[in-house]
Amino acid sequence: MYRALLAVALAAGVTYFVAGARSPLFPSSEGAAQAPPSQRAAQPPTRNVEATPLYDRDAEHIWNRLDRQLRVRTARGGATYGADNLDPLLWAETRHLLTPPSHAATLAVLDEFLTAHAERLVRDPVRRAVFQRDLWAVFDWTVSRADTHPAARHELAQRLARIIRRVALPPNEIAALPDTYSATLAGARYPTAYDPEHRDRAFLPAALSDSAGPWIPIHGSVPVEQHNFEMSRSSFRVLINLPGGRAATLAHLKRLWNAQEPFVVDRTGSFGGETRTILNPALQALPPGTHIALVRRMLVIDSAGDIRQTPIVESVQMRVFRQAEPCRTVICGHNDQDFFEFVLSRAGLFSSAASGVRAVEPDEEGFLTFSSHGIDHFEPEAGGRLIAPMQMCVNCHHEPGLASVRSSRRLFRPYTFADGGGPAGDGMPEMWKSWRADWGYLQALWQSEPR
Ligand code: HEC
Repeated sequence: MYRALLAVALAAGVTYFVAGARSPLFPSSEGAAQAPPSQRAAQPPTRNVEATPLYDRDAEHIWNRLDRQLRVRTARGGATYGADNLDPLLWAETRHLLTPPSHAATLAVLDEFLTAHAERLVRDPVRRAVFQRDLWAVFDWTVSRADTHPAARHELAQRLARIIRRVALPPNEIAALPDTYSATLAGARYPTAYDPEHRDRAFLPAALSDSAGPWIPIHGSVPVEQHNFEMSRSSFRVLINLPGGRAATLAHLKRLWNAQEPFVVDRTGSFGGETRTILNPALQALPPGTHIALVRRMLVIDSAGDIRQTPIVESVQMRVFRQAEPCRTVICGHNDQDFFEFVLSRAGLFSSAASGVRAVEPDEEGFLTFSSHGIDHFEPEAGGRLIAPMQMCVNCHHEPGLASVRSSRRLFRPYTFADGGGPAGDGMPEMWKSWRADWGYLQALWQSEPR
């Protein structure tokens, strides 16, 4: 599995610098610096640090300053990125926050927060939960390796752990956090069905969370890449919906589960003497109109130090299959499926739960943090470039039909199948997280550091 993911990551990386690459972050001459944010009309406002400050109207409020210090990155031309990025713009190779001058500056803001007991300044549970989530992400990045800058990492980790604990919500406040998917649906800001005439029009399916509805969960809550620090603080759910509704979807899934030979030897290439298996081509076809979704929701840590699920959506990724023709190339894959993504909008969520997610535009620019070789896109020698994330989906999902479904192994034995509910159990993301080394590190600091 891990090897397969590595292959996926490499495949994505290769095209990353070719097909997906957009504007360079580091123009070759100073004169060619990027236009100031105010002149970049195509830039979605949520990605810009000059957007409304998140935690208080005063941009210099300590919560705003700490949030910026940890999550906003500045390119050489002065443009800033990351203010509303789902995951922090920090990669395995990043030296930012660990080396001068940003390391000392970050410790200073963290210490200022701790000394002032600034956790008392913002009471809104939604803001506290998101703030903790973001600090926890930086914490996990900080301790994700120990072979470089160990002392600097520890200094950051100690302070981050204390603030994560101080802003933790009691369980009753976590239970009352808003279900942003339902709230967004109720706000009717997006269509609720795919429109084949407007294939780039993002939609939020109405019945996605209806446990008796047409969407059948096929993979519950276990992050695919448990080795991956970006993904380990979320619960994941993969759901599928075939034309014909619940009964037709369950019947198709049952046929797959009963398949005598779900995997066959891959005869398409040589893998250095290794024999590999692939999904049996006879099972690959999915009827046009099949929808598949991956819903990622936020986990938080409560005031007793336990990991809890929340209903706050971090992202919804969807693919709609348009035609059943088999094809094997990236280009063909693009024609075979339409891709959609919604992501958490912090500014939106803080104004109302109904604005808690926003659609990612097809040509919107951003950064790949998941499976991206660990190279920091802001440290000049990497020659970082912006990409259009929506154009990258096909890199990892270009195979025909079910073969493009990366979690499809879950559909076959030895995984289970319940006639009433299909293949997925509910999963236990809290348990997966609690087995990780980064969680052990946080626990040790949680228990040993002064409050
Ligand atoms: C770097 C590779 C990569 C890229 C890029 C990528 N995905 Fe995925 N995607 C995966 C992997 C791996 C899984 C399996 C997740 C699991 O098993 O929980 C997955 C799962 C999914 C699923 C659930 C069904 C499945 O295939 O298991 C959907 C839907 C999905 N991705 C949509 C998208 C969309 C939309 C985009 C673009 C915005 C995208 N993906 C970009 C690797 C990628």
